[in-house]
Amino acid sequence: MYFFPLHENTKLVDETCILLDTCWPKNRFARRRKLISSPCTDLPVSIAMVKDEAVIGHYRLSESLENEKWCVVESVIISSQHRGLGLGLKLMRHCLELAASLSMEEIFLSTKDKMGFYAKVGFVESFPVSILSKVNLMFRGKHFLDKSQTKTPGVTWMSLKLNDDHC
Ligand SMILES: CC(C)(COP(=O)(O)OP(=O)(O)OC[C@H]1O[C@@H](n2cnc3c(N)ncnc32)[C@H](O)[C@@H]1OP(=O)(O)O)[C@@H](O)C(=O)NCCC(=O)NCCS
Repeated sequence: MYFFPLHENTKLVDETCILLDTCWPKNRFARRRKLISSPCTDLPVSIAMVKDEAVIGHYRLSESLENEKWCVVESVIISSQHRGLGLGLKLMRHCLELAASLSMEEIFLSTKDKMGFYAKVGFVESFPVSILSKVNLMFRGKHFLDKSQTKTPGVTWMSLKLNDDHC
């Protein structure tokens, strides 16, 4: 089993799109473009988990708008036939190691119903943050975009401090 950034190896992008569509159907063209968009810095990056030459997992890691030492993980998925085997934990460990290697200090995520899974990884309930995009980059550091007061009903935000011993 191995992990690779999709923008460096695009041959499995279509397979990753199919995997992501099983949980979050989306326009294929838009999804493909997002997955292979080459970052000008280290983040954002989409990582595929591959076993026996097939994509069985994925996560995407992006910088947060609020703090350059914070990052956000999204689109965490293990293919349905591989769930319950500890691979989700392996995927998340890879994600934490990548974030730590990029000198990130804290990692955030939002979830509707997978709090139990993320708690196993070490995440605790936290506050909302925004993903840094080209469009909102100019607002970095401006407190009027602070999302911490705008909790979406039914969505739980969680975070994990990377200096804790979770990797
Ligand atoms: C969430 C997901 C990634 C977990 O992957 P997985 O490979 O099945 O998880 P693992 O087998 O590594 O489970 C690790 C631990 O978390 C626990 N766990 C897994 N899913 C859980 C859940 N929904 N609630 C509570 N605990 C959960 C497992 O019981 C296991 O605990 P253990 O170590 O004590 O046995 C997978 O179920 C998935 O892809 N779901 C669909 C997509 C999705 O909802 N992603 C999250 C979006 S926020």
